[in-house]
Amino acid sequence: MEMSHRSDEFVSIATKAEQDLRDLLDIPSNYKVLFLQGGASQQFAQIPLNLLPENGSADYIDTGIWSQKAIEEASRYGHVNVAATAKPYDYFAIPGQNEWQLNRDAAYVHYAPNETIGGLEFNWVPETGDVPLVADMSSDILSRPVDISRFGMIYAGAQKNIGPSGIVVNIIREDLLGRARSLCPTMLDYKVAADNGSMYNTPPTLAWYLSGLVFEWLKEQGGVAAIGKLNEVKQRTLYDFIDASGLYSNPINKTDRSWMNVPFRLADDRLDKPFLVGAEARGLLNLKGHRSVGGMRASIYNAVDIHAVNALVAYMAEFEKEHG
Ligand SMILES: Cc1ncc(COP(=O)(O)O)c(C=O)c1O
Repeated sequence: MEMSHRSDEFVSIATKAEQDLRDLLDIPSNYKVLFLQGGASQQFAQIPLNLLPENGSADYIDTGIWSQKAIEEASRYGHVNVAATAKPYDYFAIPGQNEWQLNRDAAYVHYAPNETIGGLEFNWVPETGDVPLVADMSSDILSRPVDISRFGMIYAGAQKNIGPSGIVVNIIREDLLGRARSLCPTMLDYKVAADNGSMYNTPPTLAWYLSGLVFEWLKEQGGVAAIGKLNEVKQRTLYDFIDASGLYSNPINKTDRSWMNVPFRLADDRLDKPFLVGAEARGLLNLKGHRSVGGMRASIYNAVDIHAVNALVAYMAEFEKEHG
């Protein structure tokens, strides 16, 4: 932690972390990788400050709580067109692109491929032609292969599949740099960050270092394709069990279900507490759903292996036998 960010030691840590991420995601050379601060939530403002001209308009897709937060924040800086919303589907399904009202002159299209709280995930990439596609991949980055060239910009808060909180990874196509509004703070200007190798000021060196270790670990696992196969099995194990059970349910349209965040309910919510107490006694932690939606949620990020999912399913079956 005492290492200067300008030292050779740290610069080599930072450079290796970036290269490993480039290898893992096969990031084309015309994209910059930035390591920023402020969490994904700061990006909700930073995106319009950099990419939305004063009299311009941006398209946003609403599929849940995080997309709505992005919409609310962007609306402070310019015109936001909500081109599609999952509201008519009670946020249990993603509207097909044939239902979207995209604006051909939009500065960009923003969406959240995985809604962490609702458990709704795109298994397809929207087609936006020449309009840059901006994606909040905070909770699904590195979970399975993705074609970076389809995106203008991808951003992800680190604290799910990357590393500790305090750092945000931003993958941005070079032609989108240098468009910041005049009132954009220097610290939030993507071009300033890019020109300074994400070191305009002191970066979160420890979080950067630890993220680099996670990238190394992921490479040892066989990379994103290999972890994607494991994630496919993990989510299928859990959803298949839920669908076959009489006690647990997940309301999300089958093709729009999240691989990383599996929300589920018990048939009687008076069983929630005993379920959680029993789970905790077995070392199955953090299963309580987000306070805004209740119920349960199993977040099965890359660090959760199949044995943990099997242990959860075994406990759920046991609990159902007792209380179902
Ligand atoms: C999809 C998504 N976007 C944004 C955020 C906000 O991230 P942060 O707390 O880093 O601002 C989260 C956090 O859980 C998230 O899951």
